Amino acid sequence: MAKIALMGYGVVGSGLIELIDNNKSKIDNLEVSSILVRCLSKHEGKKYSEYLTDNVEEFFSQESDIVVEVMGSLHPAYEYVKRALQAKKHVVTANKDLIAEYGGELLSLAKESGVTLKFEASVGGGIPILKPLIESLEGNSIKSIRGILNGTTNYILTKMYNENVDYEEALKEAQALGFAEANPDSDVLGYDAARKLAILSTIAYKNRISWKNINIEGINNLERQDFIYAKELGYRIKLIAESIMEGDQVYASVRPALVKEGSILSTINNEVNGVVFHGDAVGEVSFTGKGAGMLPTGSAVFGDVLDIIRGRKETSENYLNEILVNRYIDSEVGVLIRIKTEEKKNVIKKLRLEFPDLQLVGEKRDELALYMNTLGETKIHDALERLKLEGNIISFKKLLRAV
Ligand code: HSE
Repeated sequence: MAKIALMGYGVVGSGLIELIDNNKSKIDNLEVSSILVRCLSKHEGKKYSEYLTDNVEEFFSQESDIVVEVMGSLHPAYEYVKRALQAKKHVVTANKDLIAEYGGELLSLAKESGVTLKFEASVGGGIPILKPLIESLEGNSIKSIRGILNGTTNYILTKMYNENVDYEEALKEAQALGFAEANPDSDVLGYDAARKLAILSTIAYKNRISWKNINIEGINNLERQDFIYAKELGYRIKLIAESIMEGDQVYASVRPALVKEGSILSTINNEVNGVVFHGDAVGEVSFTGKGAGMLPTGSAVFGDVLDIIRGRKETSENYLNEILVNRYIDSEVGVLIRIKTEEKKNVIKKLRLEFPDLQLVGEKRDELALYMNTLGETKIHDALERLKLEGNIISFKKLLRAV
């Protein structure tokens, strides 16, 4: 019999409990021994309420084999997970903030204690991503990761694309439907996706990628007009989390990018997540599905719990060596730029000298929309900064094409 102690009884915790109950006929050696919550009255009448406690000492005094952390946020989750590992309990967590920040340290601690730390649900919710990456793709050297790792922003961008609405309107609807948090900053500013990309990249490239070194840009500055120009060129706009291994460096970014209509990532819409790995042996493999929600995330947590019970304890290594992260891509890339200027003709003339394939996508009285290919992102960035310095342009905004 394996005893499960649960920290947190919100959406994901409730999903796990439901799956434990639904699978009783198949898996009867699982028992809930304690559930730690902040506020007892909030959970009255729920299943297993006899195991509820708001006292952390009481929680840790109960017998358990596996501690499941689904409380979210960094603190006190970090202190509690550490305590559980030090007490030689296996730990399953769905907490991407925790793993992105302290994953290496906690994996080391788990190793020292001879227990397992698993965190499948921390990336892509219900989609099995980490297990295939750690186990099934072991024979590959991973060249790149490209994905849509945040459901809230994908919902907002899908709505902006399909319905030609403003960002604020799409965000309000995402909040009303419960996808976006009341404070949606970590989603819309790209931090949530960056933490997930850091976890995936660390495992894929076998070196620590700190999420803080990733080039992060949110979706909050996107406008209706950006979608009109992108559509004109045959692209969607998605919040793309991508990392590419080149030599001993990794390029990593999370930012809105142009995605060719018809490509795999262009078909990942609404709150769905998707990720494409490129391995040297396997080529491209893609995973899609629900990146959040009670049962999908509960499903990933349940899978980790079962693996531990069944003795399948493979998990990520603790990669502590931090690798260099490039913020700008240096290979050839397409870019859509919107330029505010009173000198449209002059700007086109000057830019065409450096970017002969420059294409006019649209224009307004004081605005140009141009598309061009550039060898390295800094080349176009520097050219635009120069024009700004010389007084030819007032401001610019760019959207890169996802490779
Ligand atoms: N806020 C996250 C999302 C939840 O929208 O994808 C899952 O991590």
